[in-house]
Amino acid sequence: MRIAIVGAGYVGLTTSACLVKLGHKVTCCDALEDRIEKLRHGRVPIYEPGLEDLLKEGIASGDLTFTSCGRECVADADAIFLAVGTPSLPNGDIDLGQLENASRGIAPHLKGGAVVIVKSTVTAGTSSRIREVIAETRRSLDFSVASNPEFLREGSAVDDFMCPDRIVFGTDDARAAAIMREIYASLSEQGVPILATTTTNAELIKHAANAFLALKIGFINEVSDLCERSGGDVTAVARGIGLDKRIGQNFLTPGPGFGGSCFPKDTRAFAAAGRRHGTRQALVELLIERNELRKRRLAERIVAEAGLRRGSRVAVLGLAFKAGTDDARESPALPIIEHLQRAGVHVTAHDPQAGENALRQNPAIELAPTPYEAVRGADALVVLTEWEDYAVLDMARIAGMMRGRYLFDFRNVLPIDQKNRHNFHCIRLGRRSFRPGDAAPSGSGAAYASRSVAAPPS
Ligand code: UDX
Repeated sequence: MRIAIVGAGYVGLTTSACLVKLGHKVTCCDALEDRIEKLRHGRVPIYEPGLEDLLKEGIASGDLTFTSCGRECVADADAIFLAVGTPSLPNGDIDLGQLENASRGIAPHLKGGAVVIVKSTVTAGTSSRIREVIAETRRSLDFSVASNPEFLREGSAVDDFMCPDRIVFGTDDARAAAIMREIYASLSEQGVPILATTTTNAELIKHAANAFLALKIGFINEVSDLCERSGGDVTAVARGIGLDKRIGQNFLTPGPGFGGSCFPKDTRAFAAAGRRHGTRQALVELLIERNELRKRRLAERIVAEAGLRRGSRVAVLGLAFKAGTDDARESPALPIIEHLQRAGVHVTAHDPQAGENALRQNPAIELAPTPYEAVRGADALVVLTEWEDYAVLDMARIAGMMRGRYLFDFRNVLPIDQKNRHNFHCIRLGRRSFRPGDAAPSGSGAAYASRSVAAPPS
């Protein structure tokens, strides 16, 4: 099938490359001419494992082309995916401006019978709005609109596309449903479940799925605080509850709060949709508030426990919102660092991929080329992203390079424990913290029940 993708961002590029792999002919367009020029030569503007190879393969086969001309992109296409940005408005709702502009831009060039598929994450009712926008320009055109949300995670987007848990699409007519089935026929033959539903349901599924996953994270973060106060270990507790198949093991890792380009935006949009429709999504509203509060409380905790003052130095390991990506959008690291900087603390940070992207948002961060360079002379070390590199750090070397002895491991990744503590005060999430004077472990966590360094955030 001939497919057009409008938008050469993260979702558009992954969708383009993977649809070629599924056997389709794809043209991807974007208004950013220099981005398109780079893509023509196989240069990918984002860090996503496997994507560059797949794009190069598609370009070499002739089945994947790039253009900055909307007409050239959509004129012969049977299916047109809209994969443009849908940022947050100040009230939390989604700004449909780019989506509406893209729809107006392609409308004059659509061929009869084409299906316009909304891939961008949107609130319920957006597909109907897109139908109106196109119909305003092409009153007599026979076309369909569909919704096909993506569930790709950054860092594993290609695998998630090629081996998804499910494919969800929403259509309001049989022709669009037939085209959607044809697009994903090869995945369906491999046994991937396909849920065909209405456009509104498909839109709701995407937002509800992300809100639910974010609730799971918010819940385990609070369980983690309770574990810390009561002498438990969140790793054991998460495993114990996750073995119940109704709960599942995934998304039960505590951290400094969820971030990224999706969860914060999608939860805000879900809550805004609830308010707009007069049916408050109170759980999600509280989740958003608690996620914000968590970052502030963790930052306050660093300052208070390490006794930081104006002129203190903190090394931050990890700026990406999670490991495996160069994306620092809504990364919990940024508000935590800003809080430290407002307290007059100098922050030196390391991240294997996201340094430049974080620096664009906060130019006052000093970037270090290695974790060891970052900790030189630091009073405290704070881990905010769970990069594997940090799990194999030489802690004796780190101890030798730091001025102070405070570790805040907010991803529980550092290779340090009570037996091997290098004289650190070590604060971990949802687990017993320990400090230099603690007695050696006797094999039971109970021995440490009264030695918690400080209270976790509440
Ligand atoms: C998410 C959804 O998983 C994906 O289906 C959707 O299409 C886009 O949004 P992504 O933003 O790439 O994907 O990241 P994800 O791996 O879901 O993590 C989101 C945030 O939650 C990160 O900040 C991560 O650190 C945090 N998280 C995740 C936790 O704190 N604990 C967990 O157990 C899982």
